Amino acid sequence: MFKDRLLIWSKTVTIVFTRMNKETNTKFVIQGLAGAKTLKGSIRINGAKNAALKAMAATVLFKEKVRLENIPHTADIDTMALILQKLGASVEWIGDNDTNGKVMRDHIMEIDASTINSTDIDPKLATGMRASVVLTGPLLVRFGKVSFPAPGGCVIGARPVDLFIEGYKNMGAKVELKDGLYNISAPKTGDGGNGLKSSEFFFHRISVGGTETLMMTAVIGNGKTILKNCAKEPEIVNVAEWLIASGAKIKGVGTETIEIYGVKSLTYKKPYIAIPDRIETGSFAILGALCTRDLIIENCEPKHVESLIHFLQDSGAPISADKNSIIIKNNVRPNCSFKSFNIETREFPGFPTDLQSPIVTYLTQVTGNSQVDENIFEGRFKYIEDLVKIGAKIKITNEREVKISGPTELVGTSQKSDDKISGKTLVPVELLAHDIRAGFAIVLAALVAKGEFVVRNAHLIDRGYEKLEEKLTAFGAKIKRV
Ligand code: UD1
Repeated sequence: MFKDRLLIWSKTVTIVFTRMNKETNTKFVIQGLAGAKTLKGSIRINGAKNAALKAMAATVLFKEKVRLENIPHTADIDTMALILQKLGASVEWIGDNDTNGKVMRDHIMEIDASTINSTDIDPKLATGMRASVVLTGPLLVRFGKVSFPAPGGCVIGARPVDLFIEGYKNMGAKVELKDGLYNISAPKTGDGGNGLKSSEFFFHRISVGGTETLMMTAVIGNGKTILKNCAKEPEIVNVAEWLIASGAKIKGVGTETIEIYGVKSLTYKKPYIAIPDRIETGSFAILGALCTRDLIIENCEPKHVESLIHFLQDSGAPISADKNSIIIKNNVRPNCSFKSFNIETREFPGFPTDLQSPIVTYLTQVTGNSQVDENIFEGRFKYIEDLVKIGAKIKITNEREVKISGPTELVGTSQKSDDKISGKTLVPVELLAHDIRAGFAIVLAALVAKGEFVVRNAHLIDRGYEKLEEKLTAFGAKIKRV
């Protein structure tokens, strides 16, 4: 297993054992603040995991070594690196060469995909991370075929791949499903090209991964591809801009319609730099409003979390933003002085589904009734039972809607167990991280609450947040990884 976990730290040639999401017994032990706003400090936001993963997939389109900067050290990035390595690519973390003031020194990666010699995406790794499906496009373009399993990821609904399959068929590819694996092949052409044809495709559902994948698939080739009803997330724009800088002809990214004119090849000209992670930014803005006296969120793009900032401001949270930072100055304002609001998750620039669970935790602490509608994924309310267990007043009205009454005091350490020697003993309440974002929401609830908590499945939080416990400890929180 250790062999699987190697990434080489080039320069120093030290071997680094990266965290893998197989570490399923990791827990956080958290001492709640009982509503006190004693945390303070500043946090520098990492590069966007959801953009970096797609840039890693896009490296397959290059036949030379490329550099990616501002890549977060999260478990999903490790998984994508392993999948690429298993296909034959070389993936290295680079220890120095800070080429840009915005980039942290140890967040640089080099990928050489020229050595890829397989088109079979590792089924076990792929089913653990849905973003792996994005690799299918670049592999299909470069090798004319790819096989992959129905992908996994967070436990948040069915997450089908029909849009990818329809899109590939629309480009002329043949798709077979056998023994749980999709085998996709492009028509062969005499000149060694992949034979995918010009096409026009309408996404019957707006899909981030679908938009990114079909865009990458159309980048190299002869024809013109028009994608309609596309997702507009900043991560898509971020990756497309790098591809454009490398010679791709893409128009309209960030709008509903993207036009791609296939080119013969891409040429590496400059490193890809991941934009700041807007979900990490939003998560800490919510945490800042609930738990901190003073918090500065640096190196972020406040305009990417505009809808969240408006909701927090309207609620009374003392949050302000300038070009690249968000500032929270709470002084002595208790959370019950903030007002409730209703939220509907939407595609960008709407309220992101990935902040739905942290905002529900927020709404348990502020005054008034609220309703949260989840429009992107069904089954994304599994964490609610853990919030209810510690005192939150939340009713799941259907699989896409919850109603919250606040404020409520959240309490841990209230369960008692029989101890043979001392009789009844107080034990921490056990909570569960159901997925990356719900995991953050549960950590946030434990922090704001009274008492002690154990949050199981912390490895799921590691998939999307780099060293969360270290960041929180730096603010003064009592949180330990065990
Ligand atoms: C990405 C993000 C995820 C975020 C989501 C929505 C990554 C790695 N993950 O996920 O954090 O929550 O966008 O902002 O970038 N769908 C279909 N058929 C398909 C594909 C998707 O019906 O073939 C549905 C999904 O089940 C979902 C909706 O479309 O209900 C949106 O999903 P999509 O935008 O594709 O999400 P991801 O790209 O998987």
